[in-house]
Order: sequence, then C-alpha cells, then structure tokens
Amino acid sequence: MSKTKTSKKDRASLGAKSVDALDEAEASAELARLAAAIAHHDALYYRKDEPEISDAEYDALRARNDEIEARFPHLVRDDSPSLKIGAAPVETFGKVTHRVPMLSLGNVFDEEGLRDFLDRIKRFLGLETIEGLAFTAEPKIDGLSITLRYENGKLIQGATRGDGYEGENVTANVRTIPDIPHSIKSRGFPDPFELRGEIYMSRAAFQRLNEEQAKAGERLFANPRNAAAGSLRQLDPAITAKRPLRFFAYGWGEVARLSAETQWDVYQLLRAWGFPLNPLIRLARSVEEMLETYRDIESGRVGLDYDIDGIVYKLDRLDLQQRLGFVSRSPRYAIAHKFPAEKATTVLRDIDIQVGRTGALTPVAKLDPVTVGGVVVQNATLHNEDEIARKDVRIGDTVIVQRAGDVIPQILGVVQVKRPKGAKRFAFPEVCPACGSHASREINPTTGKVDAVRRCTGGLICPAQRVERLKHFVSRNAFDIEGLGEKHIKAFYDDGLIQSLPDIFTLQARDKRSSSKLAEREGWGETSAQRLFDAIEARRNVRLDRFIYALGIRHVGETTGRLLARNYGSAENFLKAMRAAGADRDGEAFAELDNIEQIGPAVAAAIADFFAEPHNVAVVDELLHEVKPEPLEAVDHASPISGKTVVFTGTLEKMTRSEAKAKAERLGAKVAGSVSKHTDYVVAGPGAGSKLKNAAALGVKVLTEEEWLKLLD
Ligand code: IVH
Repeated sequence: MSKTKTSKKDRASLGAKSVDALDEAEASAELARLAAAIAHHDALYYRKDEPEISDAEYDALRARNDEIEARFPHLVRDDSPSLKIGAAPVETFGKVTHRVPMLSLGNVFDEEGLRDFLDRIKRFLGLETIEGLAFTAEPKIDGLSITLRYENGKLIQGATRGDGYEGENVTANVRTIPDIPHSIKSRGFPDPFELRGEIYMSRAAFQRLNEEQAKAGERLFANPRNAAAGSLRQLDPAITAKRPLRFFAYGWGEVARLSAETQWDVYQLLRAWGFPLNPLIRLARSVEEMLETYRDIESGRVGLDYDIDGIVYKLDRLDLQQRLGFVSRSPRYAIAHKFPAEKATTVLRDIDIQVGRTGALTPVAKLDPVTVGGVVVQNATLHNEDEIARKDVRIGDTVIVQRAGDVIPQILGVVQVKRPKGAKRFAFPEVCPACGSHASREINPTTGKVDAVRRCTGGLICPAQRVERLKHFVSRNAFDIEGLGEKHIKAFYDDGLIQSLPDIFTLQARDKRSSSKLAEREGWGETSAQRLFDAIEARRNVRLDRFIYALGIRHVGETTGRLLARNYGSAENFLKAMRAAGADRDGEAFAELDNIEQIGPAVAAAIADFFAEPHNVAVVDELLHEVKPEPLEAVDHASPISGKTVVFTGTLEKMTRSEAKAKAERLGAKVAGSVSKHTDYVVAGPGAGSKLKNAAALGVKVLTEEEWLKLLD
C-alpha cells in the first residue's frame, strides 16, 4: 500500500476532488467505487495475468483509497482493499492436492542395475525366482507428467505434478490439447477416474515454435520438454491452444474400480476408451526380452518425432504392484532404464568453490558454453576434492562433460593430449572462501574413514551457509514462497533485510515502519512488493513435513521430514521431543527418535545436534510465532492401526519383513525397531527372542502374524 499522496495528475483520472474537499457521502460513494475497481483489476492481474491498467495507475487507486480512509476511518468498508492482505490469489494457478501422490521412478543405467531391481522385487515378495513374471516395457517420454480427473465421464480437472503431493490446476489449458478427450461415453468407464500420462511436444512442432519465437523476438526454448512445459504453464489458455501439445497415457491415480488384473489389460481398456497410448509399448516376459525391447527402441530412437530418454519397465500383475508399494518417492514395481547420457567436450576455465547450507565445499567447473543433449551447459559439478585429484582435472584442460536427464552435468574426465603446458594441479582450499573459517574433513563415525567432503567450520557466522539456508527454506519443496527466488534472498541478505528465517515473515511489518520501502528498491514497485508480501502471508500455514524439511537439518530430506511429521504429529510435539533429544543423548526422547524405522544413527545424531544448538532452537521458536505448521493427513484415518506403534520380530510366514513394514506404514502405523512403553503391538513369528520378553515385561500386546492380519482386515 502506498502512502504517497495522490498528485493532481492522478486525481484527474480518479475522483475529481482533493480528499480534503470530500464530504462524507462523497467519500463513502468513492470508497465503494474504489473497492469494486481494485477488486476488478486484482482479478485481471492475478487470475488472468492480463492487466488493463499500468502498475502506477493501479497504485494510484490504492493510494487514493488509503487517503480517503485515513480521513474517514469510520467509513472503512468490510471489503476494503486495504484489509485484503493476502486475499488476492498470489499463485498464478490454483493448487491441487493429489489424492494419490504423483511420484517418480528410480533409475538404472545398465543390465546390472536392471537385475538388481528384479532381485529387490524377488526378495521383497519372498519369491524363489523372478521367472514367469511379465513386465511392460515402454518408452519413457521426455515431457511433463499430468493427471486428468474424470467424473461422470467428463474431464473436470487437469493438474501438474508439482512436488508430487500438490500440483497446479491447469484444467483450462489441458482442455485445449486435442489428444485429451473431454468426455468418455463408454459404459463401464470408472467414476471417478484419474488418468496419468505425459504431455510432450513433437520435435517438428518444437522447431516450428522456436522459429516463430525467433521471428517475434521472443525467447527460444532449449528443448521440446521445456517448450511443452512453458506452453502448458501459460496463464492464458488461448496461448496454450496455439501450441501443438500432445499426450500419451501411462497410468492412473484415484480410480473407482478397474476390471483388470494387469498393467497390460489396463492399457487395452485405456485404448478402448479413446486415450492415446504409445504404440511401442510391449510385454516382456524375461530379462532378455526387457533388454531386447530396450535395444530395439533405443535404435529406433532417432527416427521418432518426440524425445524419449529411456525405457520404463512395470511389473505387469496389479496385485503384486499393490503388494510392493512404494519406497520413498518411487514405486518398487517399476523402474526407468535410462539411455546413455549425452556427452561433449569443452574447456574448463576455472573452478569455483561453492559453500552449501551445511558448510560442504563443492567445486564447480566453469566451462566454455557447450550444448549437451539440447541444453547449453556452462557449469558442471566436480563433486569434491578427491574427485578432482582422482581425475586430475586442471584449469585450462579440455574436459568431457556428460548430462543425463535432469541430473546436474558432470565432468567425466580430461582429454590429456590437449592439456596446456604449465597447467598445475588444483590446490583445494583449506579455508572457507566465504568466511575464512577453517574447512575440515571429518571422520565418518560409522565407517571410521575421512569424509570426502570438506566442510566450513564457521557454522552460523558463515554468510554463505546462512544464505544457503534461507534459499533452501523458501525453495519449492520447502516453504515454496513464490517470487522470493535465490537472487532476491541474496540481495535481501546483503542489505540486511532478511538475515534469519523468521525475518521473512516480519518483512512486511518492518517494511511498513521503514523509511526505505521494498517498493522503492530497484526492480520493485508497489504491486510486485505487495505480491511478495501476499505470497509470504499465504505460507503462514504450511504442512509440518515441509516445515521440518525447510529447517535444513543435515541429512533431513523430504522423506525424513515426512517420517518425522508422521511420528510426532504436531510441531509442538516434535519440538518438545527434539529439544529433549538434543539435550540428552541417553534420554528417552533420543532413544525414541533413533528407534523410528528408517532413521539411522547418523540421521538421529544430526537432528539431535541441530537441536542441541541453542541458536537453532531460538530460531525455530521464533518461527513458530510466525507460522502454523499443519499436521500431515494420516495415511489412512480409517485403518485400525493408524497412529499405533508396531514392532515386528521373528520370522513372518505370509509376507517378508519389508512387506509387512511397508504395509503397516501405508495403513498409518509407525514401525519401530525395539520394544518400549510406547509400543502398541509386537507381531511375533517363530524364533522371536528378546523383543518378545521385553513385550511381556512391559505388558505390550503380542500378536501372531495371523492375528495381526485379521486386525488389518
Ligand atoms: S510411470 C510412480 N511411465 O517419468 C511414477 N512414467 O521419473 C509412475 N514418464 O513423472 C510413472 N514416460 O512424468 C511412467 N511410460 C511412462 C513414462 C513416465 C515418461 C515420466 C513421468 C514420471 C517420470 C518418472
């Protein structure tokens, strides 16, 4: 909101009179007009991205509104624009929570990786052999995934993947894609039905689009995938409609019922209903057939009119898919077998040392720009000190660069014959380039070996670590604050506007009091500043798992964030327990943390270390004054074991231990490694030992495998 007085010129286009000259009735009428006008322009700006007036004109309207309200405070309307902080939709697209998460696939790069994948399935299901099981083998389309919801046979919603749990509502845009049917008439079409697949752009269409963009002086797209993504995420569906997007179906999300037993059968149904399926999909009945399909499709790859980056294998039987379930973000029953990455050579001009949020020093190769697989590469990771030494990479060297899918480009090695005379071995710095603190290589407590990573020991005094923490905090899978990108964070940090995490949420209040307004900074204006404030406001409610992940605790990624959120339920519980764990490694709280399945000792120690640091606790406390983390929805509220803690011991006969654990977690239970007074059930098979004794001593209910399965039913 601008506090500047409206000038004479502005007044000409607004109310004719100076505010001082208005009487009460005129003021009231004008406030009503202004409220309607500002709401109208907000809608054009935020929802349609099609403003009718300039930022300055818009700001003048708001300023006039404020000025009148300041003189007639009793006339402030309930729908006054000055009260609508955060009400304007800041997200350009609405958010859609996926009822069934849209996860990703694990990757393998060779036959060995594929055999390991099959082996894992065999072990998980407790099979003697994998022979006899069929897999679909299908091209991995290099586009972007989409979920399409049909109710009553009508397409009612299209959403992007987003972070896998929440995506963007792009319904109007998907409706413009001719491959996507708007209604399905077939009897027996499930209601609801959520179809999943890939939106892509053909290579020919991509070429044409780029030619048109060049003619119009618009930016060019790097590859068909970026062009498809850029075209789908247009605020104006009329633009999407002009872009030739295509679609292939490959899966489903929430679905009422499917009369099919295999992935292959579902594909036949999808075809019959009129959805486009890739014509190269095959059924492979052995590893040999899987590899054969891989080779066939790879050799035909250049002749295809769209980009593919590998083959996806999916276990055909749906009952087994169900049993296998998911690990972290990927299904256990499917895998992507990637085509070899593309390579190129270029000259390495320099090695930059970047400091990460946990102090890790990462060497980054600065390269002469080179196109690898359709993308211009100028930076590549060199991983760490040992890696540079092993490859003996020197400044001035001609190096081989590789880029695989969305992975950060890597340096494979050096073209020795092209080494310039006098090139010296690279001396890795032993002090942090950002704060000058000593950078050391720790001894890994589990392996007893020296860590490959050199870390800055400056902790919170290191500006680079602080900035990286801030960047992580606002990033997409953490707080996801739109409009607060890495560049802004750095600039705000340097100017003292945002120095620690809670500062983000006090930015607007401080801005109000401050004489140097955000809106007056270079590159900013009233509208963009308000937009940022609104985006921040919108994140005061955040999911607990995102909140935990956003803290940037070492070793705590998204999966661990979710695990902790599930286990502790609320921010208050989590914080209380973590403080106790941080204060006493021999206490119960630490034992409980360490006892959570999938949280290993190194992770538990890292979490406790974080909360043992008073400064961190203070920051989290302060943050909790600003934001309200919301508990995760339980996996399955209705399940009889939701929220219960279970320990498995002894040999299970109906399923493997991993399968039992996965199933319990899916139904909302916590699986622990040892028995404590917090344990609700011990499921004991033959051969159970000390855990059974502990259960008896603590009076914990013991179930046989059969009783357990009956309970789940
Ligand atoms: S199946 C649980 N099949 O690859 C995920 N994905 O890395 C099931 N993709 O996000 C995905 N072609 O966008 C599947 N034939 C195919 C695919 C395919 C492309 C994409 C998809 C997914 C990503 C996984």
